[in-house]
Amino acid sequence: MFFKKKNSTGTEKEKSHYLSAKETREIAKQNARTIRELERRKKRIASEDEYTTQMRDENNIVEFDNLHTYFFGDAGVVKAVNGVSFDIPKGATIGVVGESGCGKSVTSLSLMQLVQGPRGQIVDGSIRFNMGDKAYDIAKMPLSEMRKIRGEQIAMIFQEPMTSLNPVFKIGYQMDEMVLLHTPNCTKEQAKDRSIEMLKLVGIAAPERVYDCYPHELSGGMRQRVMIAIALSCNPRLIIADEPTTALDVTIQAQILDLLRDIKTKIDGSIMLITHDLGVIAEMADYVVVMYAGRVIERGTTKEIFENPMHPYTIGLQKSKPVVRRKVDRLYNIPGQVPNPIDMPNYCYFRDRCDRCIGKCKEGYPGFIQVSPTHSVSCYLYENAEEESNV
Ligand SMILES: Nc1ncnc2c1ncn2[C@@H]1O[C@H](COP(=O)(O)OP(=O)(O)OP(=O)(O)O)[C@@H](O)[C@H]1O
Ligand SMILES: [Mg+2]
Repeated sequence: MFFKKKNSTGTEKEKSHYLSAKETREIAKQNARTIRELERRKKRIASEDEYTTQMRDENNIVEFDNLHTYFFGDAGVVKAVNGVSFDIPKGATIGVVGESGCGKSVTSLSLMQLVQGPRGQIVDGSIRFNMGDKAYDIAKMPLSEMRKIRGEQIAMIFQEPMTSLNPVFKIGYQMDEMVLLHTPNCTKEQAKDRSIEMLKLVGIAAPERVYDCYPHELSGGMRQRVMIAIALSCNPRLIIADEPTTALDVTIQAQILDLLRDIKTKIDGSIMLITHDLGVIAEMADYVVVMYAGRVIERGTTKEIFENPMHPYTIGLQKSKPVVRRKVDRLYNIPGQVPNPIDMPNYCYFRDRCDRCIGKCKEGYPGFIQVSPTHSVSCYLYENAEEESNV
């Protein structure tokens, strides 16, 4: 954490990265107090009414509304997700992009209530989930209720297939467990049949053999297929795929993406696809959400984001992508670094890296400017664009 310290003459010293033992103790005490209060608040929620809510738009399956998820660490509070709002429409694929550490995974983990507690906590905002006949606010739901939704309604394909599968249990055991947990009155034989059917669905050639394998006996691509098969075994209405193809070569990547696309049509569900690969987004997504330093900075349809990127960061991302048949000496990179997540500035987080900043950029964090019904951007450069679109 950056602190301004006074030296013996009373003048301010350079900003220091170091914390004294006293400062660390103070932070730990403050964190313990906040965590206790947040945990108490969660436990107070007892009846369904307290977490039942209403969707803003019935056509959405999920609505993130001003979500704040923080990690209370020894050096201070990391605001991993700092006021994120976007919708996932029913039947759509929504791509979430942004550079490493911008809060993509933490946003999806918040939706599954899998943020690593007690340090990681949803401190504010709501995550409305459309159950069909009613809607729940996942940010407020007790864990016992969330367990009924997790896996059954929302499934997640994690970033690392090797660490997500348990190395000491066979694939079949891990798959059956999921089916048995979520299907009442299901026998072991029925669970096995379902698991083998799912392995077949994800394109595994010898499902009976793979069913009897340990995770280390499979290749990376097969493990990722198994993860997808587990995620699909309860017919979820929303699949969260967190970098599903990062560890795979391009051929397998293309196969996995085809598979996801196929499956989405089969289950008639929605996909939240997290990646930093713009190519994957262009191929798969209907809508794109661009995140930077824990916030959404631009959102729109894939066409809008690719053909008319507005935020200087989105423009930078597009420029840094290699283009076939365009010869360049060096690929473009966005200069500078993401601000320290513990000590975010009180103005636009991208300002210090932005080559188009204006005087106003120092005056607080910019709000969202609606440039079309589906396209909005958080940047002062477009304030006039909104006025024009309102005329
Ligand atoms: N368990 C944790 N404890 C403390 N901080 C965490 C924890 N998990 C994530 N963070 C912090 O939250 C921020 C967002 O992390 P997140 O994993 O969401 O990034 P990401 O956008 O998914 O990055 P990547 O593309 O590399 O997967 C980072 O600054 C990270 O250090
Ligand atoms: Mg991640």
